[in-house]
Amino acid sequence: LSSSPSAGTPLAGPILRPRRLRSSRAMRELTRETRLHPRQLVLPMFVREGAVEAVPIGSMPGVVQHGTDSFRRALTEAAEAGIGGVMLFGVPTTKDARGSGADDPDGVLNAATRIAVAEVGDALVVQTDLCLDEFTDHGHCGVLDARGAVDNDATLTRYASMAIAQAEAGSALLGLSGMMDGQVEAVRTALDDAGHTGTAVLAYSGKYASAYYGPFREAVDSSLQGDRRTYQLDPGNGREGVREAEIDVAEGADVVMVKPAGSYLDVLAAVAASSPVPVWAYQVSGEYSMIEAAAANGWIDRERAIEESLLSIRRAGADAVLTYFATEVAAWLR
Ligand code: PBG
Repeated sequence: LSSSPSAGTPLAGPILRPRRLRSSRAMRELTRETRLHPRQLVLPMFVREGAVEAVPIGSMPGVVQHGTDSFRRALTEAAEAGIGGVMLFGVPTTKDARGSGADDPDGVLNAATRIAVAEVGDALVVQTDLCLDEFTDHGHCGVLDARGAVDNDATLTRYASMAIAQAEAGSALLGLSGMMDGQVEAVRTALDDAGHTGTAVLAYSGKYASAYYGPFREAVDSSLQGDRRTYQLDPGNGREGVREAEIDVAEGADVVMVKPAGSYLDVLAAVAASSPVPVWAYQVSGEYSMIEAAAANGWIDRERAIEESLLSIRRAGADAVLTYFATEVAAWLR
């Protein structure tokens, strides 16, 4: 024992002490790398045709299908909270095989867009979901061929027509969520040919075939039987998500997105590492409902879980986040 070099001398202890930067709230605030800002939050909203007041969505406590009056109130609240924008989804009363309501200027989504632009168009970026699934009676994101498979190229024609209708309704940013090949190029070309060169495109590039969209199906009264695995990405594939983003940028996307967010933070980080355009993420319905359900049972601290989930999405590389918590979180941050 006496031959040990440190015998009799006190233990020197660690030289490196990272805990110094965690010692006080002020020090932690000063050294935080990532923050949430209201302007980087986008609120997805559902608007139900023919409704005046809100209809609750059972699988998403606190989220509703808006009627015209509740929609106006929620838009004003969102603008006052200072969020960055709203992403609109329509819930039509009638559906057909080609999703005719989607490019009808008086269809629920285009009518809701006009209302939103008139109410809050100066304060918020009014954005629209560009996809057929809410409008088709079979619930797929595209039109079907004679064998019942999704017809990619025939769907592009429908998307181009939707894009013009949405741009004419005043949408500033079209959210292409259908995962058809060539959809960004088809929409960009149609917009430019019609003179809508200022309408921007948000490509849902890394959109995975996910169980976390479950509650959304109720939110839009979806009629889908089966799944979307022939067009949405396989959850096992990371590189493919990055490739889809590269293709969308090459086709002219102004913003690319990864979705869902929480289970795909690696894809988000990889896309963010090389993307020349802003990268967003969508905290989807199932991610929302899991937090609400666990909090309602008293199993997690609701506000801390919401903040941590959004901070993690930002930390992984999202410049902005679509989240059903947007207005509420923005109000906390003020
Ligand atoms: C397609 C679309 C979906 C979502 C956004 N756009 C559904 C799907 O692809 O199955 C899901 C959003 C969510 O779950 O919150 N129009």
